[in-house]
Amino acid sequence: MESLENPFWGDDWSDVRDLFDSLEPGHAYLNHGSFGNAPRTVLLNQAQWRARMDANPTRFFRRELGPGLRTACRAAAEFLGAPEGDSVALVANATAGVSAALASVPLSAGDDVLLTDHEYETSAWAARRRAADVGARVVTVAVPLDADAAGITAAVLDAVTPRTKVAVIDHVTSMTARRFPVEELVPALQERGVIVVVDAAHAPGMLPIDLASLNPDFWAGNLHKWCYAPRAVAAFWAAPKWRSVLRNPIVSWGEYAEFPARLVEVGTTDRTSQLASPNGIAFLRALGPQRVREHNVKLAEYGQAALAAALDLDPAALPGDPGVPMRVVPLPVPFDDPRDLQAEISDRLGVEASVPKWNGLTLLRVSANVYNAPAEYDRLAEGIRSIL
Ligand SMILES: Cc1ncc(COP(=O)(O)O)c(C=O)c1O
Repeated sequence: MESLENPFWGDDWSDVRDLFDSLEPGHAYLNHGSFGNAPRTVLLNQAQWRARMDANPTRFFRRELGPGLRTACRAAAEFLGAPEGDSVALVANATAGVSAALASVPLSAGDDVLLTDHEYETSAWAARRRAADVGARVVTVAVPLDADAAGITAAVLDAVTPRTKVAVIDHVTSMTARRFPVEELVPALQERGVIVVVDAAHAPGMLPIDLASLNPDFWAGNLHKWCYAPRAVAAFWAAPKWRSVLRNPIVSWGEYAEFPARLVEVGTTDRTSQLASPNGIAFLRALGPQRVREHNVKLAEYGQAALAAALDLDPAALPGDPGVPMRVVPLPVPFDDPRDLQAEISDRLGVEASVPKWNGLTLLRVSANVYNAPAEYDRLAEGIRSIL
């Protein structure tokens, strides 16, 4: 096994890496983007909450959970620049937030829901389900893999028609690791009378977020990806005008409560990831969000360049956006089931990466976080040719 060091971070890198000791030793975990990873200190905080829950479930669920969740919702709201304290609900994951938004927006027969072809599958399916229920249509606009910000904005806005009622826009796309210019798109779509749901699953922690100035209609972002919260928890925002119409797709104790309690108060589930989420945010703040972001992006760029060299691709021609610590490279051969390739990379190389399929292309996506080191990307780059 290679001895690891990381000049992109600095002298204290091995101390930081040691905090992520829940990860399988010797395996290069280059897929932070899919499910996130929390450091030991945050997992300990979650374990303390779980111990309180198990010590006396009645006291915990009846008297401690409510105040704990209120504190956690407020911590997320503050971190995300939400305008008032009680404007963010913590929900199970980004999918839950996007689904609640799409199930609640006013939509009828003759309306269109606009998506891009980079949209995360389950968010697209949530749009399809709602559209089918009311006789509306889903319109998917193509955005080239290498489109620049102006091209992305133009592609989306050109697709708006008088029928367009709702648009679902990813802030950072999953399969293609692109950053969409939501700061331009949200107001431009709203000016055209379109309700905007921002699928910001990757955005918290990865990018500076200021919900007060972005002011989308609905917004959902995971805290367990780039904010170091335990799996799983997402922050969900609804603009004040939508809060009274918003419904939780699962009927529960928040049914007759106001937002955010409408979404936060659900039946008996393990909420310890949500309760420990302020600890994840505090961990990111202690490391220094700017330092983390700069490091992660540099390392992801390094990984993309190493893969490009291994696959004889021009790194300058590959997609990548400022601030996004995930990078893709297209593989020279398409795979019917990319999960087989993902498993083979894991088994043969001891590397975990993401292998999304997008518009007929099989992509290899690497993420970078503070526990990763350049040699881990070299290992993938050296091994990938033999696998292909
Ligand atoms: C853009 C996007 N939307 C939604 C999701 C779904 O996240 P979750 O499974 O946590 O709900 C993801 C997950 O990676 C994503 O990248």
